[in-house]
Amino acid sequence: MHYTSYGHSCFSVVIKGKKILFDPFITYNELARHIDVDSIEADYIFLSHAHEDHIADCISIASRTGAKVVCSFEIHVWLNNKGITNTHPMNTGGKWNFDFGTVKCVVAQHSSGLPDGSYGGNPMGFVFTSEEGNFYYSGDTALTLDMQLVPQYATLSFAVLPVGDNFTMDAKDAVQAAKFIQCRKIVGVHYDTFGFIKIDHAWAQQLFAEEGMQLFLPAPGESLEL
Ligand code: NI
Ligand code: MN
Repeated sequence: MHYTSYGHSCFSVVIKGKKILFDPFITYNELARHIDVDSIEADYIFLSHAHEDHIADCISIASRTGAKVVCSFEIHVWLNNKGITNTHPMNTGGKWNFDFGTVKCVVAQHSSGLPDGSYGGNPMGFVFTSEEGNFYYSGDTALTLDMQLVPQYATLSFAVLPVGDNFTMDAKDAVQAAKFIQCRKIVGVHYDTFGFIKIDHAWAQQLFAEEGMQLFLPAPGESLEL
């Protein structure tokens, strides 16, 4: 599967020719200054939770591209009130068959207030299964025992996990998460963007290498085949 990083926790995966964008936060990311947010195409936008650093560019990209936004019921209502009506509400535990494959929403241990203080519902992770491969995006989360359920839903080709510490798990906990989800190919997100989450790349990658795993830390704009 073709993976592209747009910085922070924003990335896209292409499945069956559909471009699926996650947690768009580009305009306010100084590390993604070189990325033209108005040139990003999307058929779907998945939002793990309501925090500004995951939805800041959602409305502009959704209104320009017409992408379907998949998110919590509370974010769906909030978006509908702002004129974004091509939305699909979900909640943890639920799954849905889309035209590219199936998505199961799983627990993330985090919070989820909207930028204006509205309640954003539960934060979520997503398990994607498709004919072209399976992957898990945990969203912002602590390491949690619930991750042990993921292998019951899918044998993963890769997973996308936060490694920045302070607001989420760090790389050390992400190694344990990789064991829980039984996946050796991990893409790190949610690091370096702000002072609170700057990490030592070599240290983080070494932790994974010691366990026979790979941690990819693509730069904003960089693509990977996973
Ligand atoms: Ni967050
Ligand atoms: Mn975040």
